[in-house]
Amino acid sequence: MKGLRGTIIILFFSAAVWGKKMRWCTVSEPEQRKCADLAKALVAALTSSAVTAFGRLSCVRAYSKADCISKIRANKADLVTLDAGEVYSAVKQFGLTAIAKEIYTDGGCILAVAVVKKSTSLDIRTLQGTRSCHSGVRWTAGWSLPLGHLLSRNYLPWEEEQPLSQAVSIFFNASCVPGAGTMALSLCFLCQGLKSYNSQKNFHCETSHSEPFYHNQGALRCLTSGAGDVAFVDHRALDSIEESEKDEYRLLCTDGSHSPLSNFRKCNLGRGPGWGVVTRQNNRKIARKFLLASQAMFGWRGKERQRFQLFNSSVYGTKDLLFSDVTEKLSVFNEDMDISLVLGLDYVALLKGLGHEGSSLEDSVVRWCCISHAEQKKCEQWAFSIKSDPLVCVRASSMSDCIEKIKKDEVDAVSLDATHTFIAGKCGLVPVVTEYYGAKCIFTQGEGHFETKDLPTVYGVAVVRRSSRNLYFGTMNGRRSCHGHMYSPAGWVLPAKHTLSTEHNNSASCEPNKVYSEVFWKGCLPGGQGNLCKVCVGGTEEAASKRCSDNHNERYYGNMGALRCLVGDPSGKSYGDVAFMEHHNLESNIENLNNSRWAEGWLAWDFELLCGDGGRAALTEWRSCNLGAIPPNTVMTRPVLTARIYDFLMKSQEATAAHADSEFHMFESQQYGESDLLFKDATQCLVHTSHMDYRSILGEEFYSHTEHIFNCTHSDILEFCNQDVCSIF
Ligand SMILES: *[C@@H]1O[C@H](CO)[C@@H](O)[C@H](O)[C@H]1NC(C)=O
Ligand SMILES: *[C@@H]1O[C@H](CO)[C@@H](O)[C@H](O)[C@H]1NC(C)=O
Ligand SMILES: *[C@@H]1O[C@H](CO)[C@@H](O)[C@H](O)[C@H]1NC(C)=O
Ligand SMILES: *[C@@H]1O[C@H](CO)[C@@H](O)[C@H](O)[C@H]1NC(C)=O
Ligand SMILES: *[C@@H]1O[C@H](CO)[C@@H](O)[C@H](O)[C@H]1NC(C)=O
Repeated sequence: MKGLRGTIIILFFSAAVWGKKMRWCTVSEPEQRKCADLAKALVAALTSSAVTAFGRLSCVRAYSKADCISKIRANKADLVTLDAGEVYSAVKQFGLTAIAKEIYTDGGCILAVAVVKKSTSLDIRTLQGTRSCHSGVRWTAGWSLPLGHLLSRNYLPWEEEQPLSQAVSIFFNASCVPGAGTMALSLCFLCQGLKSYNSQKNFHCETSHSEPFYHNQGALRCLTSGAGDVAFVDHRALDSIEESEKDEYRLLCTDGSHSPLSNFRKCNLGRGPGWGVVTRQNNRKIARKFLLASQAMFGWRGKERQRFQLFNSSVYGTKDLLFSDVTEKLSVFNEDMDISLVLGLDYVALLKGLGHEGSSLEDSVVRWCCISHAEQKKCEQWAFSIKSDPLVCVRASSMSDCIEKIKKDEVDAVSLDATHTFIAGKCGLVPVVTEYYGAKCIFTQGEGHFETKDLPTVYGVAVVRRSSRNLYFGTMNGRRSCHGHMYSPAGWVLPAKHTLSTEHNNSASCEPNKVYSEVFWKGCLPGGQGNLCKVCVGGTEEAASKRCSDNHNERYYGNMGALRCLVGDPSGKSYGDVAFMEHHNLESNIENLNNSRWAEGWLAWDFELLCGDGGRAALTEWRSCNLGAIPPNTVMTRPVLTARIYDFLMKSQEATAAHADSEFHMFESQQYGESDLLFKDATQCLVHTSHMDYRSILGEEFYSHTEHIFNCTHSDILEFCNQDVCSIF
């Protein structure tokens, strides 16, 4: 066959009764050869079997993946396989559509790893000024995940006005990032492809196998040849390193340590979606059929695989031609899927955070999650009180809804109670700061932030009216209860750990909802259902809401709400016998009750605590008479935003401290008639915890107890998070 290069091979055959010719876009000579072999194999297979529909394939040679995208848009080619980062651009910027994704032996996701030579002294924290090799620009493992990690730890400085590529070009001394040619000179400095002024013949720094440092193999070559100090590739590339040479390399782990290559599951920079196939909208149905037919013939279990192997490039001398060689099968979508379903919410949010679509006004705004009318009012005053960064208050219906909205990139941050911090952590969000309830905040000058060795807890307590005689732990059957809110540590997690009634001792604490609905006659657990909503009263005026909503619009929500629930509403109908809440600010909440005219004349003296051992004690005895410690609330966000949210909170904190006489106080809520709005009222300051993992903030005891509970309690929000294609963790 003559003139393969730059030409289109068209193969006709008699059996093709219909079917548009498919044109595959290739980016190198070996890829063009593999494609031509596929075309031949299709003809041969189709003439020997009776399959007729998809016999005509031609191969269109382009000089880069970006060129492929243009050719497909211009109807000069039909199909190409792309890294997930390129898939996103192809769909969002160029109007193409994703029709399939590669599935590997361990699923559809890849792990980003940073490979160095064993002899190096570098670690993940000291990459500034080094020479870097990347599989491709905006690629998942070669660019987005590692840069997202460096940004989340604040190792990589990034001014909001500048494009990320510029920050990267300043950070590394020199790099080879195939595809970054137009962004910054130093990003292509290490590349070795031939240069030409004719764009068709220029391979320098292109996303083409003609650039020796292109793709996973190329980035590793860049490292092994000594051109670079570190290579950012995906874990699938590690297999290609000779067994005998594996010990000469190490992975950089996020904790600053090194690890052998085989440890990539533990030592990596995050998970992201693998490669996918794109085409034009109007071509998608026939292209899907073409892929299904090709896979049925030439996939690993294909009927015709002795003729041709779709996922094997070894005879062409280059890896990963047309598809990744480690592909086990293609998952061809049988309907149109939104890009965030194809690539996962975490990943799409990461790309937006990295400015994949270009920067927008949104980038400089912090969107805080508010769950009620009262929080919205406080948040708006906060926004008004700070001049530095614009703060936007976004309304959600509950803390769980905030987590969902953060994942969907509709909100950026929120302060969550310990149980919701657990959930958010499972959902791939990360800590920024933690509320500090100690006596005095210590500002570490050198580090430039508030730090602390230990994070003081609050305590869960069970409060009753002094006048309720014969009410103790163990005898709560048939009583009325007040629980703060769904999943709240004090109202939901801790009480079930104790013996509520003779039938319900702590061995039954695995499903709190079941325990409470069986033990109590009725109660108010905002966000719950059935008899545990019957005591709730809903909201009025601007905060009007249905009964039992999972936010302060339900007047029995939270610590203040549980107290209101205990004394009952002014009509005297809806009240509880026991309220599960946090000990902090209890006395001032009782005072507030009187001042708000909700229930006049109640004094601290009118209440008592129930101790877990069956006794009773005065409110002041919470240290010895409590249901357990509660880890502090933590502000959680998407990983890529940690540095920005931290910066914003520190500025807010300083501004409010500097104007102590101002109207707005971050950690007070009484003037809005509620408690614990946005932050707990017990907060003294916000301490830096973005270097910690949420599990260590929660502490092992709380963490494993909560895990135990959610192992047998269904939760919509955890289910929502588990659906994500590749949760970052
Ligand atoms: C960065 O590159 C310059 C030359 O371009 C060299 O002099 C310098 O030593 C390099 N720095 C590091 C940390 O490698
Ligand atoms: C890939 O193809 C080569 C050459 O045909 C063959 O030797 C090799 O076994 C194939 N690899 C797999 C995994 O089947
Ligand atoms: C705890 O409750 C279970 C049933 O719910 C019962 O079988 C068990 O004996 C109880 N244990 C104690 C110590 O009361
Ligand atoms: C309760 O409020 C009333 C007026 O609203 C006030 O006169 C009274 O002193 C308050 N009681 C307490 C204990 O604060
Ligand atoms: C919860 O379930 C997971 C997965 O089945 C298991 O690994 C873990 O140990 C369980 N945790 C607890 C505390 O029961």
